[in-house]
Amino acid sequence: MTKKGPKGRWRVVAVVFVAVVLLLAAALALAPAWDRAEDLRQAVGASTGPAPDAEAIARGAYLARLGNCAGCHTPRGGAEWAGGRVIATPFGGVAAANLTPDPDTGIGRWSAEAFIRALREGRSADGRALVPACPYPNYSLLDERDLRDLYAYARSLPPVRQARSAHGLRWPFGTEFAIAAWRRLFFERATLAAAPLTSDDAALRRGAYLVGGLGHCSACHSTRNLFGANAGAFDLGGGAMPETGWLAPSLLDPRAAGAQSWSIGQTAALLRDGVNRHASVSGPMALVVAQSTQHLRPADAEAIAAFLHQLPVASDPAAVKRAPAPEPALRQLGERVFERHCADCHGKDGRGEPGAGPPLRGNRALALPTAANVVRMVLAGGFGPSTAAVPRPLGMPPFATLLGDEEVAAVVTWIRWKYGEASAGVRVHEVNRLR
Ligand code: HEC
Ligand code: HEC
Ligand code: HEC
Repeated sequence: MTKKGPKGRWRVVAVVFVAVVLLLAAALALAPAWDRAEDLRQAVGASTGPAPDAEAIARGAYLARLGNCAGCHTPRGGAEWAGGRVIATPFGGVAAANLTPDPDTGIGRWSAEAFIRALREGRSADGRALVPACPYPNYSLLDERDLRDLYAYARSLPPVRQARSAHGLRWPFGTEFAIAAWRRLFFERATLAAAPLTSDDAALRRGAYLVGGLGHCSACHSTRNLFGANAGAFDLGGGAMPETGWLAPSLLDPRAAGAQSWSIGQTAALLRDGVNRHASVSGPMALVVAQSTQHLRPADAEAIAAFLHQLPVASDPAAVKRAPAPEPALRQLGERVFERHCADCHGKDGRGEPGAGPPLRGNRALALPTAANVVRMVLAGGFGPSTAAVPRPLGMPPFATLLGDEEVAAVVTWIRWKYGEASAGVRVHEVNRLR
């Protein structure tokens, strides 16, 4: 028996470490050759190909709204699709590309084929693999006609000369090797066959196509693994959005964000108006409605609603746990903060005040598995989206400077317990982290 002493063990560790470093270095050096695809840039001049017809451009404009391409590709206060915005991810920032037809900094040299490949396979025109911060794993579901219409729309925009900044991904996440490895492990082109459908109805299939593809609902409403990957375009079980502190609740659970127990009309209203009889959207979902779903044609909103309605129900067991009543001191502080700062708008009894604030009593936003959204709402406040039906939405002021962590924790714990089916509260340090 040769039992290794501590010295021997360290030697093994050192050898393994050196071997791993050498392997990684070799992989990093070889990766570009391993994961490069054909360069399609030479294929077109800026003005070759038939001029797209006005109808294709108009269709593309509508699809662009549904995909919310502008949400990332249009700089704040800048020219449409000129790029430059940096998208925060747990691995660092990723700069969105310039999609205007400028030949040097935009997609002026891109053929339709290059554009289609970008969204279906996640490759830039030069063959480089794209970081999935662009939700191409979802857009890969799109059919060729929709992709051509989006291309026609992009080509119709005024060219803007604007180079984008470099990505700010932390090493090694931005290396070609890491992106190639990620794609091998986790990227698969989305198909409608993977959609949970209870019938072959055309409207349902349209709804699934919009949810899994352009709507990219799973980009937020899913749990991501250590490498930022989810289980695909129809993974809708809910998950945390680490960059914003919000929880995108499960679309499979009617106690979270599920629409299974709502009518199709009410769900379509939430998507188009931002509010319905049961709920109002806030935070990142308010942006989704403002920038994207409010533009849905009625038939498309209903198709999405019909698809959401028939999703299989899967309750999150964490959401059904009842918490014990808060300690008397915590409860008193929570009640006091509520009466002073919240009751004017949400009602002394939590039943809401018309024209001021929505009811909190029985509001499922208070009974989510975590208190993250309520804390974010109290700290940062917010507005519902401005839509055709609700042009001037009500707003809630931010309390970040008015209330300390302890007071926020107390009031959130109190209203979660009182109005949110005795859901678990939040600790002071968790509030501090969400600030
Ligand atoms: C959540 C943010 C986000 C959304 C939404 C989004 N993109 Fe992107 N897109 C990005 C980022 C970030 C990149 C840069 C990726 C890279 O360089 O690896 C990118 C890259 C691209 C590229 C490659 C450009 C190039 O120069 O290589 C194309 C094409 C593209 N997006 C098209 C679209 C279209 C069309 C839509 C809407 C249907 C869309 N994107 C929606 C973030 C987004
Ligand atoms: C950018 C991230 C993001 C995307 C994309 C997104 N959601 Fe959401 N969604 C959220 C967050 C966060 C919430 C929780 C806040 C809220 O309830 O409004 C939410 C809430 C919801 C709710 C519950 C609303 C309520 O108040 O009960 C529904 C229904 C919903 N989303 C549907 C969708 C659908 C359908 C899509 C795709 C078309 C989608 N979401 C895309 C982040 C997102
Ligand atoms: C000036 C009126 C006003 C005050 C004061 C106010 N709120 Fe609100 N609150 C609103 C409005 C309006 C909304 C809906 C905004 C939205 O959807 O973005 C809202 C939304 C919320 C939500 C989310 C409900 C949902 O359906 O998603 C919670 C939770 C909440 N408020 C808690 C509080 C707490 C706790 C306080 C006190 C610390 C407070 N509010 C103070 C007006 C107010």
